Amino acid sequence: MSVTSINIGICGLGTVGQGVWKHIEANRAALESRLGVTLNLARASVRDLKKKRSVRVAPAKLTLDPLAIATDPAIHIVCELIGGTTLARDVTLAALKSGKTVVSANKALLCKHGPELFAAARKHGGHFLFEASVAGGIPIIKALREGLVANRFKLIYGILNGTCNYILTRMEREGLAYPTILAEAKALGYAEADESLDVEGWDTAHKASILAFLAHGIWVPTEKMLVEGITHITQTDLAFARENGYAIKLLAVISCEADTGEVFVRVHPTLIPRTKVLANVNEVYNGISVTGDVVGETVYIGRGAGQDPTASAVISDIVDAVILRKRGNAQLPAPVEARATLTPLQNITGSYYLRLEVKDEPGVLAKIAGATATLDVSIASVLQRPSETAGAASLILTTHQSNEKAIRATVARLKKLSCVLGEPVLLRIADFAA
Ligand code: NAP
Ligand code: HSE
Repeated sequence: MSVTSINIGICGLGTVGQGVWKHIEANRAALESRLGVTLNLARASVRDLKKKRSVRVAPAKLTLDPLAIATDPAIHIVCELIGGTTLARDVTLAALKSGKTVVSANKALLCKHGPELFAAARKHGGHFLFEASVAGGIPIIKALREGLVANRFKLIYGILNGTCNYILTRMEREGLAYPTILAEAKALGYAEADESLDVEGWDTAHKASILAFLAHGIWVPTEKMLVEGITHITQTDLAFARENGYAIKLLAVISCEADTGEVFVRVHPTLIPRTKVLANVNEVYNGISVTGDVVGETVYIGRGAGQDPTASAVISDIVDAVILRKRGNAQLPAPVEARATLTPLQNITGSYYLRLEVKDEPGVLAKIAGATATLDVSIASVLQRPSETAGAASLILTTHQSNEKAIRATVARLKKLSCVLGEPVLLRIADFAA
């Protein structure tokens, strides 16, 4: 069957959907001549028909019902750009069950329902493509799946959330308060509809889960990860980092022990030496370091959120979907076979930064040193800073090499001391960064 015309349905015409519409319209001639087909933006769904859009869409093409697009026999490719995991799942499954290819930017959906979506695509002869789900405009899915196919991956780590990187960069540079910058990130279209997914680390965790699946063939649910966000980072932490040659970045780390195949996925704010590449990846940019056993280390940098970079990734999947359809929708190579188990906490080692608000009185340091020594955590440096709380001081400790189990037990013990006020702030110090 010769394919001459492709009908595309866009479910969700918000930040990303409008970007896809805009750039397909703008680049239609070039795309069509390269693909040898006509690309027809056939239908789009929204929640509010009266809302003003930045693209012109004929009213007859708009619907309130994304399922009508997903099941429309005339539509070949469905882009799910609604977000969330309920309606988006229904739309995606309905389209896949109709034999269509679905292009998605929805990392939360993929993380929660990945196996079900891939199975439905396989069963009904379509594809589920998701380049836009991780790191915005950086083609990291293609890099892992195709460019680096010869490799096993010892370590993948990176900045995967544009909103958090934008917030941390501007807090550090301009001393601005976090809520002010978050409001700007929302206005710029970087943040999720529920911004707690960004700032509490869950969006990064969803993306880390996808990368871990591509690299190691296992779905690590977010409940099995260490996930910390950036809401507890203050100007005191950023000042320490600046004065000691570090930047603070929210990192996802996916490590695999070569001998045992154990995989550990974690998301946490991290102090990275300024001499390293990722410490200098700022604003909405993402950066990912991938170390393969054949290629060595490779690093990818690009805009990680926002309308245009995300549209770039979605359109690359649309192009792949057209090429696959022209070739009879042949199956893509199977994902890596599952071969990893999860690493226990005590095997995750590193050094740590710990900020405690303490009563400013004699004997406090001895009590804290006693607690850390009992749990075999060795202190590398201690610094006292004025606290915003009257009668208190900020105490900043760094540790020598320790492990997650010991440091968590130490934090739990320190919290019980009467001289420690409020929640301790624990940050990891990167000793692996590119
Ligand atoms: P958005 O701006 O909130 O757009 C969502 C679209 O879906 C809107 O058009 C909205 O309709 C429609 N919609 C929402 N709930 C609906 C419902 N219950 N019924 C029918 N339609 C509904 O979101 P976005 O930023 O474009 O993100 C879309 C997806 O891309 C999400 O999965 C997100 O995680 C992912 N993503 C976003 C970015 C980014 O930088 N923004 C980057 C990568 C991936 P109305 O317009 O009428 O309200
Ligand atoms: N909210 C996400 C971010 C969008 O800021 O990275 C891109 O996935």
